[in-house]
Amino acid sequence: MTNPRVAHLMEDLFLAVNDLVAKHEVTHEEYRAAVAFLNEAAEAGETMLLLDVFLEGGVVDASSREWRGTPKQAVGPYYLEDAPWIEDGQLAGPDEEGDRLLLTGTVRDVDGNPISDAVLDWWQADAKGRYGAFDIPPRTNMNLRGRMHSKEDGSYALHTVVPAAYPIPHEGPTGRLVEALGWHPWRPAHIHLIAGGDGYQPLITQIYFEGDEYLDSDVGRMARHDLALQLTTNGDSRRADFDIVLEASV
Ligand SMILES: [Fe+2]
Repeated sequence: MTNPRVAHLMEDLFLAVNDLVAKHEVTHEEYRAAVAFLNEAAEAGETMLLLDVFLEGGVVDASSREWRGTPKQAVGPYYLEDAPWIEDGQLAGPDEEGDRLLLTGTVRDVDGNPISDAVLDWWQADAKGRYGAFDIPPRTNMNLRGRMHSKEDGSYALHTVVPAAYPIPHEGPTGRLVEALGWHPWRPAHIHLIAGGDGYQPLITQIYFEGDEYLDSDVGRMARHDLALQLTTNGDSRRADFDIVLEASV
């Protein structure tokens, strides 16, 4: 059965690739190497990694041009559903290593009105750049993952630790391509968030930190300064404000 959307996109894709081949006089050997590379990436289970690194950020940008809330970001590979509900915003337990971070703010609509009872679903790497369940077993490890509600006045307070930057898996074909481009494999430190509320469109985003050495060279080409926190230091703890803006459902 013909799918007009698929046909339209693929025709444009073929045109673009053929233009590129002609412009750069791509050789048959280079073409064969590209096919072999894609096969190798698939066999290594890196199809998703490869496409997410190079394409996902662009898809998120293209599909959120009309969005007026907090800028959207890719969900990334480390999200787990059904994170525990946390008490008093305590995402990090008392034994968690790293600099303490208090993140406060208000969930608002695009007109500035506070949104109470919004669901904030957080997940992040630890102070060594490791995700629970993925880098730290078992698969049910929900460390530094948690959900909470905004208060009556729309405010929230998240008690956590400052996450570390981490490299994407770079031992395989994707890492080789990243290296061939002269890029490094690192993502700047970040905290992931999915925010939603009754009558509002869900927001998937990531929050970064000013001063991070990888903020301007994110391997995923997603980090941006308008999502980067300026941390203030108080003793050995850090704090920052971050308001979250949601757009009403249509
Ligand atoms: Fe991440």
